Amino acid sequence: MMIFSGTSNPALAKKIAGNLKTKLSSLEIYKFPDKEVRVRVLEKVLGKHTIVVQSTGVHPNHYYMQLFFILDAIKRSGGSDVTLVIPYLGYQRQDHIFRSGEAVSLEVIVNLIKAMKVDRVISFDLHAPRISEFFVNRKIKIDHLSALPVFADEIRKIAKKSFNDIVLVSPDMGGIRRIKILADLLEDRIPCISIEKNRNLNTGEIESTKINGEVKKTTIIVDDVISTGKTLIAAADLLKKNGASDIYVMATHGIFAGDAPIALQNSIIKKVIISDTLEIRPKRRFDKLHILSVSSLISETLKK
Ligand code: R5P
Repeated sequence: MMIFSGTSNPALAKKIAGNLKTKLSSLEIYKFPDKEVRVRVLEKVLGKHTIVVQSTGVHPNHYYMQLFFILDAIKRSGGSDVTLVIPYLGYQRQDHIFRSGEAVSLEVIVNLIKAMKVDRVISFDLHAPRISEFFVNRKIKIDHLSALPVFADEIRKIAKKSFNDIVLVSPDMGGIRRIKILADLLEDRIPCISIEKNRNLNTGEIESTKINGEVKKTTIIVDDVISTGKTLIAAADLLKKNGASDIYVMATHGIFAGDAPIALQNSIIKKVIISDTLEIRPKRRFDKLHILSVSSLISETLKK
């Protein structure tokens, strides 16, 4: 087994390789002055099972193009059984047509992954469970993993001994299934509530309108993705108005677009807990941020 990493999340790739008692294999990724990239595999991959680790995040187009060149270089050099570890699958929120005339961007991405002859994909907390079908329908094996077990462990630490004054919150109706799974991992000791959210598809503005259920002192808002942070901040403000005092947020993928780090740091949220599916560069980190690793979930899956 050989593991290659693109430049999106080398820290996670190194952890995965370390867990599997191996090292990352060498690639040359050269960026030309006009920002085109050239990729070259520097080790013999002929007939080898190869694993490519690449996430997407705030520069999805750049990282996807880099990924496709890595996959092409491996295939041309004779690599076989290619597994793509794409912890955050960029464009997954564009999985259907919201308004007439739109592209289904995710379908384009999965078609390209198929064209690059990937055999197996490992990804985390896809925005909707039906996204797995995009791969299955194209005969690509998919392992849809979740950071929720890691978050459940963290909630046990936050709760210490008592779960009495805690509630799990979905910041929108689409996330209710997610908090129910998390509650189940916590032996149903924490109740679940949800927030009704409106998003203006033209401006991206968000309004949290109504809470369904009883707010408690400690609230843990759980989401799949933090991009601008607006969903979570709007939810936290509404919860605060309704009596919450310690507001934690947990989200698998910390994209943190634009000013999100500043907005979250300045918000009433106490702690922003994410996983390392995306690499957060030091200058984008902030005091309230806490990162938990999912590397062992990936390496255990790769062993299977
Ligand atoms: C939406 O359905 C997602 O689950 C997230 O709530 C959303 O994408 C987060 O985006 P933002 O941080 O920009 O509000």
